[in-house]
Amino acid sequence: MIQKGQVYKCNVCGNIVEVLYAGGGQLVCCGQPMQLLEEKTQDEGKERHVPVIEEQSQGIKVKVGSIPHPMEEAHYIQWIEVITQAGSFRKYLNPGQTPEAEFPVSKGEILAVREYCNIHGLWRS
Ligand SMILES: [Fe+2]
Repeated sequence: MIQKGQVYKCNVCGNIVEVLYAGGGQLVCCGQPMQLLEEKTQDEGKERHVPVIEEQSQGIKVKVGSIPHPMEEAHYIQWIEVITQAGSFRKYLNPGQTPEAEFPVSKGEILAVREYCNIHGLWRS
């Protein structure tokens, strides 16, 4: 069942979409149903993906993850998103950048923090 905030990927062309409003239908791309990306919350193996939240004097900094994630052409964090009751904030990243972003929200406002790795998918803390 489609729900607001879910992220779907087309495994044919690579399109990725987030649901802003759930109308109830099925999301289809390139002639087949899009895949719901599960939000992973437990790091496994050598790399770290779970977002780490640090409070700052104004707002927060989110780092991916407890050990900085690679930011190479073939493997990098594409975006970091902070979800609050009032709305969501997203910062897009490119290879070569540091896998972190600052947001103008207080820690108490946060409902969830998510990030997307182009190889290992969607992660949440
Ligand atoms: Fe990764």
